[in-house]
Amino acid sequence: MQRHANYIGGQWCAPVANSYYQTHNPASPAEVLGEYPRSSIHDAEAALKDAADARLGWSETPVPQRSAIIQQFAQLLAQSKDELARIVTLEQGKALCESTGEVLRAATEATFAAGEGMRLSGHTFPSERAGLTCFTVLEPLGVVAAITPWNFPVVSAVRKIAPALACGNTVVFKPASLTPWSAVYVTRLFEKASLPAGVLNLVVGPGIAVGERLVSDPRVRGISFTGSTDVGMHIYERAASHMAKVQLELGGKNPAVVFECDDLDGAAQEIVSAAFLCSGQRCTALSRVIVEDSQADTLAQRLVARIKKIRVGNGLDPQTTMGPLVSKQQMETVISYVRKGHEAGATLLAGGTALVKAPETEGYFFAPALFDHVPANSPLALEEIFGPVLPIIRVRDANEAIQVANGTRYGLAAAVFTKNMHFIHEFVRRVESGMVHVNHGTASQAHIPFGGVKDSGQGSYSIGPTVKDAFTNLKTVYVRW
Ligand code: UN1
Repeated sequence: MQRHANYIGGQWCAPVANSYYQTHNPASPAEVLGEYPRSSIHDAEAALKDAADARLGWSETPVPQRSAIIQQFAQLLAQSKDELARIVTLEQGKALCESTGEVLRAATEATFAAGEGMRLSGHTFPSERAGLTCFTVLEPLGVVAAITPWNFPVVSAVRKIAPALACGNTVVFKPASLTPWSAVYVTRLFEKASLPAGVLNLVVGPGIAVGERLVSDPRVRGISFTGSTDVGMHIYERAASHMAKVQLELGGKNPAVVFECDDLDGAAQEIVSAAFLCSGQRCTALSRVIVEDSQADTLAQRLVARIKKIRVGNGLDPQTTMGPLVSKQQMETVISYVRKGHEAGATLLAGGTALVKAPETEGYFFAPALFDHVPANSPLALEEIFGPVLPIIRVRDANEAIQVANGTRYGLAAAVFTKNMHFIHEFVRRVESGMVHVNHGTASQAHIPFGGVKDSGQGSYSIGPTVKDAFTNLKTVYVRW
């Protein structure tokens, strides 16, 4: 078993307190994968100092040079896809094909970010006074904290680090405690790509110590966080105390509205895929089906048929299409929501139980669940579960469908399945959601802005050209010649 280190100021170093914790394979939890630093505020402090010291040098490095390093990283990432995908599956659990897709996707996003670094352009303006030239420039924020979740340990990290670096910032990276192996690997690839010392620093450890220290420090001028809404709100408060810019990508309760749909089988296929990828542990997972009464029975049958085809198992097995849940805690949460579904009087149509007798030794395997007749005001219909439990909420008409879709605190992604052009336009206009998909599941693309409204997010969207807003400040300049 390997003992891993933090990466601070260009050195792989043991945590100051010399304290470590172990990670486990969710498909066979008795298997220890590695030992990782249980870092403290002292390690966070060291990383902040080095990131702050490296700030000037990196921000003044010519952009083609910065972009070339990120481009080189992207190539290394793509070349490492087999090895890294295996690591993702081992520590996160998802099916190997999903892990491979994630690594390649991250490489594409890094390539885009490298290019974006070359397009940090401002505007020129005609002046109201003679002899003045007026323009804007984009400048790096300074030190950025990148705090990432366990569900997409590679792409979430790269989605933050690559654009932050491309825009001339230095970064302190705190990965989720469940998935530090992917983080160490990604950091090593940046090192291999010859990123200068101190520009990217990795500190593995608990959010309560490391994360808290990072988001509270006035030297941190930008915070990019993906994770739960509750933690995101706490970070937003901390950031406010020193006016750090935030990019928060938080929870979701993403509706799939089905109304006057002429391809229920196609809709079921898209919904099941978007609901159960990554075992439903995606903030953009479709996590509610809202269907008009007249189509509900047929849609429910189609959904059950698709769900029955899902093969739950060890993600390394090529037959597997859905891996285990990531942890015991996640399994308990999911089981508690199945209980809440029964308590609310909903009808369980598929799955809903652990697939092994002793998940803590045999793996956190769970049969994907579908509930019908879920009351629109019940926990199953309103709260983010972050697991493979899909509720069906039946509605009378188009208006009620949109009302129910908008009836949660969240507003991340939404889908609509319909042949009715009028309804498509109405839905796109009225749905309270950062991203909308029409006759398409909630899958994102590598160059298109990604984010949410309401309690699902704050700050500029990640991916695509909006990363420039997230990771730079605007400076307006008036020059008298
Ligand atoms: C993607 O689909 O773009 O959990 C990757 C999620 C997001 C993004 C994952 N954090 O859905």
